[in-house]
Amino acid sequence: MVECSAPGKLILFGEHAVVFGEPALSIAVDLRVRMRAERSSAFEVNGESINRRKYRYIKSSIEEVWRGDPIAFQVDTELPVAAGLGSSAAVTVSTLGALLQLQGRFNPVSIAQNGFQVELKVQGNASPIDTTTSTHGGGILVDESAGPGLLWSLSRNDKKWFLHDCPLPELNLVVGNTGIKAETGPLVHNVKELVGGSRVVRGHIREIGRITQQGKAALQEGDFSLAGKLMNQNHMLLNALGVGHPSLEKLISACEGLSYGAKLTGAGGGGSMIALTEEPEELAKRIRDAGGEPYVVKYSREGVRLEV
Ligand code: MEV
Repeated sequence: MVECSAPGKLILFGEHAVVFGEPALSIAVDLRVRMRAERSSAFEVNGESINRRKYRYIKSSIEEVWRGDPIAFQVDTELPVAAGLGSSAAVTVSTLGALLQLQGRFNPVSIAQNGFQVELKVQGNASPIDTTTSTHGGGILVDESAGPGLLWSLSRNDKKWFLHDCPLPELNLVVGNTGIKAETGPLVHNVKELVGGSRVVRGHIREIGRITQQGKAALQEGDFSLAGKLMNQNHMLLNALGVGHPSLEKLISACEGLSYGAKLTGAGGGGSMIALTEEPEELAKRIRDAGGEPYVVKYSREGVRLEV
């Protein structure tokens, strides 16, 4: 039996634009998925058939790296599902970690590479940001070319993503989950359609890339006022890409006066928002009062890890 765990993530800047090759910045958070795996007489998860739709990331991870006897998985998660916090990536990464360890070939680069393939297969389109963040932990900058802190690069068709370790200061972030579940695949697909049909929308994508670079610099310099303004701008552009939702606006409005800035995080369409603040507990209360489920999250330097 092996047990492997992997963290969720928050995208601070650049979601959606990163699928088109623009830069993006994310962090791993201290909410994890734990996956136990042992050889068995049938492939199953928590005693249920692996063919259930909700286990498709696990099934696809098996198809990617496993050629042996059936495996029974037991999964526990601290992450809300389909809420923009990287629960699918953490499930994928912890499954791959467990399966590779059972074969004596646990290795973060293989996990990140195969994790990206699994997300592509399940979602139809994706960037490697979620799976690399869950694999490596800490701060991750996805960029168009190699720079300091390069971890690995991953490509698909004519696109190549350079994934970097990106040191960031401690950040007080509060997540507000709207409770509206939204799947990443269809949202990414809709943005692709929009981008294909409009020069203006392609301009929004490039602008998000510029905001990401400025936001990264602001965070690294500790200029949280500027970082917050850039988060607000990034959020408006995400709304222009059609991935906003009234429930996100409600939670974001509730943060006014208590945060440097706020934006949706992840694929949008519901899911979660994040706010950068000096007063996380007070802000969490406001989010709860506005009908959201708050999480005061800490930045986690640890990525995928074997537990036993
Ligand atoms: C989802 O967490 C992030 C997106 O940019 C999709 C992706 O990068 O794969 C929306």
